[in-house]
Amino acid sequence: MDKRPIGMFDSGVGGMTVLKEIKNKLPNENIVYLGDTKRFPYGSKSKETIIELTKKGIEFLLKKNVKIIIIACGTATSQALDVVRKIYNIPIIGIIEPTVEYIYNKQNIKRIGVIATNGTIRSNGWEKSIKEKINNIFVTNKACPLLAPMAEEGWTNNEIAKLAISKYLEDINNVDALILGCTHYPLFEGVIKQVLGDKTEIINTGKTIAEFTKKLLKDKNIENKELNNDYKIYLTDIECNFVNIAKELIKEDLIINKAEI
Ligand code: DGL
Repeated sequence: MDKRPIGMFDSGVGGMTVLKEIKNKLPNENIVYLGDTKRFPYGSKSKETIIELTKKGIEFLLKKNVKIIIIACGTATSQALDVVRKIYNIPIIGIIEPTVEYIYNKQNIKRIGVIATNGTIRSNGWEKSIKEKINNIFVTNKACPLLAPMAEEGWTNNEIAKLAISKYLEDINNVDALILGCTHYPLFEGVIKQVLGDKTEIINTGKTIAEFTKKLLKDKNIENKELNNDYKIYLTDIECNFVNIAKELIKEDLIINKAEI
């Protein structure tokens, strides 16, 4: 039993799609969420910058006495997770490993698409991790740099979103599943479903992370067994659309605090 919060981190509102799934799967857990809105978007930045920003985010969360950290950002996971795991003495979960484990256990996925930010696709992190664990799988990658900024703007279900998704998914056909390799992308799930149809499974990393986190907390015996879920949200810049989008996702009023980092 451990009442300390789970620390979560993203460049903006994307990680809230992961928080939503954690809330469903682990309703007792307290959460401290950091959105680095001042430096959004991460997807277009260099690996060096992403490592530096990820370290800042982790150090902020460590001061909040968190028991584990979820890097709820595909860009930071693919470029900084290996580095920060060697520096900090706390369990750190990214978005790739839980998802690859899910695909591995499903066994029927032979052709898979990955959509993510430029930085994530450039790192080749998804394809490398998938192929390390699963034989004879065909992976198609596609960078969709406009989607995360559109999600921050709240443009996730309008004509522009439909056009952008249709254009980005032009090359992704005939896949058994599509990984939403950026945590902002579940906000477009409705439109993506319309474009791809029913035959393609859409993999929301928030769901695989929640499952993975539940198991990790249990294995380490650090679950919170009493219902006292408290969500503390910190943003590095509060002049943004975050609250409206996050409220829609979580269906709860959220108090936003300013993080000075
Ligand atoms: N939500 C993030 C990701 O998963 C970051 C998007 C961005 O900041 O460009 O990649």
